[in-house]
Amino acid sequence: MIKSNKYTVTAALPYANGPIHIGHLAGVYLPADVFVRFLRRNNVDVVFICGSDEHGVPIAIQAKKENKEPEEIVNKYHYMIKNCFINFGIQFDNYSRTSTKIHYEISTSFFQRFYEEKKIFEKESKQYFDEKEKQFLADRYICGICPYCKKNDAYGDQCENCGNFLNPEDLIHPKSTISGSIPIFEKTKHWYFPLNEYQEFLEKWILIQHKKDWKINVYGQAKSWLNQGLKPRPITRDLNWGIPIPIDGYKGKVMYVWFEAPIGYISSTIEWSKRKKIDWKPYWKDENTKLIQFIGKDNIVFHCIIFPVILKAYNSGYILPDQIFANEFLNLENKKISTSKNWAVWVHEYLEDFPNQQDALRYILIANMPDKKDNNFNWKDFQRRNNNELVSILGNFINRTMTLVKKYNYGIVPYPSNFTKKDEKILESIKNYPNNIGFLIESYNFREALTRFMDLARVGNKYLTEEEPWKKNKEKKRLDTILYISLQIVGILAQLSEPFLPHTAKKLLDMLRLKPCFWSNIKNIEKMLPPGHLLGRSSLLFKVITNEKIEKQLIKLGKVKKF
Ligand code: 2FM
Ligand code: ZN
Repeated sequence: MIKSNKYTVTAALPYANGPIHIGHLAGVYLPADVFVRFLRRNNVDVVFICGSDEHGVPIAIQAKKENKEPEEIVNKYHYMIKNCFINFGIQFDNYSRTSTKIHYEISTSFFQRFYEEKKIFEKESKQYFDEKEKQFLADRYICGICPYCKKNDAYGDQCENCGNFLNPEDLIHPKSTISGSIPIFEKTKHWYFPLNEYQEFLEKWILIQHKKDWKINVYGQAKSWLNQGLKPRPITRDLNWGIPIPIDGYKGKVMYVWFEAPIGYISSTIEWSKRKKIDWKPYWKDENTKLIQFIGKDNIVFHCIIFPVILKAYNSGYILPDQIFANEFLNLENKKISTSKNWAVWVHEYLEDFPNQQDALRYILIANMPDKKDNNFNWKDFQRRNNNELVSILGNFINRTMTLVKKYNYGIVPYPSNFTKKDEKILESIKNYPNNIGFLIESYNFREALTRFMDLARVGNKYLTEEEPWKKNKEKKRLDTILYISLQIVGILAQLSEPFLPHTAKKLLDMLRLKPCFWSNIKNIEKMLPPGHLLGRSSLLFKVITNEKIEKQLIKLGKVKKF
């Protein structure tokens, strides 16, 4: 349900330590974009926020790997990622970065207030230290055997194999990922957030308020953290890459990236509001505003536990998220996507290899969205769905209709006469699609929404095939009626396609000489495409993907040998 006329929608800030791949799109950015486009078409005041996450160990490690300064790394990947989003039609209102002045100021003010109001505390502890590199080893600077699944190469913050969150001390046979040496324990001081003090607040908010309306994967993980009992967590790190701690005696230490990055949603909104010259506060502090966060599965605890606690502790009227949406993982050719093994389809490479075919990938990724369980992308399936569904059903129906109207009625919507029972039934039933699809999008069922959309294209395709308007000796009146009805279906498809296939929608609306309309008006398509309406120039919407193109991708992955 659309619950409010104001929404703040955020999508997880990707680390600017590498390009994005199809798993990112299917997991986070496409569901968020479909949702936001739908809200906009419902005249909802929505701001869609994202940006690059430019701090933390992942950046520092990549800098070392590429033998560059962290600044160079984040610059390189920030622009690369931003361009991918723009090209792919992920339509953020603001795509910021956590290295901006405004983000430094906002996150520092959060830290400062927690310090002044004694909401955080200082503690000395012993932590792993790399003697060779003279550096403490937090998060991904340390790896070892996972105590849960016993796989090697689990990091100090998380095991990528089983997904469990870890502390460096949990690792079996720990070693430094920088030098490979075995670390020793050294004393160090850090600031801690007493998450335990917020246990009751979170239990009320999550276990009571959101038991029913959060996805089971999100709710389940949050609940399991709460069941284990929350403990204080350090929010500073011994690192020289990040936002400095605004307290004397903390030189060489920075804020933990998971403390400041979520605050980036707020600073990105403020940056946007300054550009737009409007007030940002209603988007974060008005209790009627709905905050919806789209995140990766491995970000759940930070968005369900840590960020809400930060917002609550700051105590200045920040709203809490109404929905935190995470998908499962998308595999590639039945194997886990892996950046280090280069087992991925990189978005910037796709855009080069398949120019102007963004919507084909959008279509396949929404259709295969890992919403309830892990799902799979494979190139053959991509080709099959593109050729058999986008080209042969949706594209073919639209193309046949447009061509026939041009041939038999000068490209003008014809006057219908004498509807048959079947015609009437179709005209009636197509009016239900906008509501049904809208309901599915509102309830975060993006795959099903897309299936319904394609069902409508199937209805049109079948109708045209059965009615055979091209047959010789067809009475002109009947021909006009069939084409009129087909065009109404094309019109609805054009309006409905935007959240899923925005590039196609634009082309199609131009072909029909229609403007995008509000979702609730789509059912009145007969008013927008009345008899006598002159259509525009039509062009092919989808291209067949050849075996050679797919073969090339498989060779790239090393699945097929090059001869
Ligand atoms: O997992 C990631 O890529 C993180 N950079 C997501 C951060 S989301 C938000 F909190 F900033
Ligand atoms: Zn594990």
